[in-house]
Amino acid sequence: MTDYLIAPSILAADFARLGEEVDRILEAGADVVHFDVMDNHYVPNLTIGPMVCAALRDYGVTAPIDVHLMVDPVDDLIKMFADSGATYITFHPEASSHVDRSLQLINDLGCRPGLVLNPFAKLDVVEWAIDCIDILLIMAVNPGFGGQKFIPRTFEKLRQAKSLIEASGRDIRLEVDGGVGIDNIASVARAGADMFVAGSAIFGAKDYADVISRMRKELRAVTY
Ligand code: DX5
Ligand code: ZN
Repeated sequence: MTDYLIAPSILAADFARLGEEVDRILEAGADVVHFDVMDNHYVPNLTIGPMVCAALRDYGVTAPIDVHLMVDPVDDLIKMFADSGATYITFHPEASSHVDRSLQLINDLGCRPGLVLNPFAKLDVVEWAIDCIDILLIMAVNPGFGGQKFIPRTFEKLRQAKSLIEASGRDIRLEVDGGVGIDNIASVARAGADMFVAGSAIFGAKDYADVISRMRKELRAVTY
């Protein structure tokens, strides 16, 4: 059985109580903390940086932290996030002039490298980068904001991405981000995803454990 990972996006958390919010999602059964970094340049929004990641580690968070860089350029922030306790670091290939070099940098700094593809981005780059990534993140919305609607063509992109990963024979996580919730998580898993980012679907609920257990119940029912 596929080992599915649920990664709440703290973009939708109450930033004034971030440590407690992260404790609550982990106690509620989340596997990974999804950490959205926006620079008001690559995307129109501005969020949190390496100091906040380090603060979560100092606060005692030991779960994997999945840093999703929506910034341009990427290399300086890769170094800072590696120093701040990131586990995975993913970036959008068009935000780096030298994608291979940026992926190597993440790897050399002891983190797990990955690429992120926007809804209209081609999968071609993945064919070339497949030996250098541990994770592939497929955006199901345009990056920049939480609470947007899942773009249905993502299903086809996930299927194609899954085939590329299978053909490579490598152990690569296929992550999906944007508009994922209880109602569509099973279909998204059937299309090939095995790591699910959910912001508003989890933090927008009163009872985080209830949402996460309902997501897991949906995932248990997935058959190919
Ligand atoms: C969007 C971010 C997402 C976002 C997901 O740019 O990368 O991680 O927080 O939020 P929801 O689940 O609300 O679509
Ligand atoms: Zn994200």
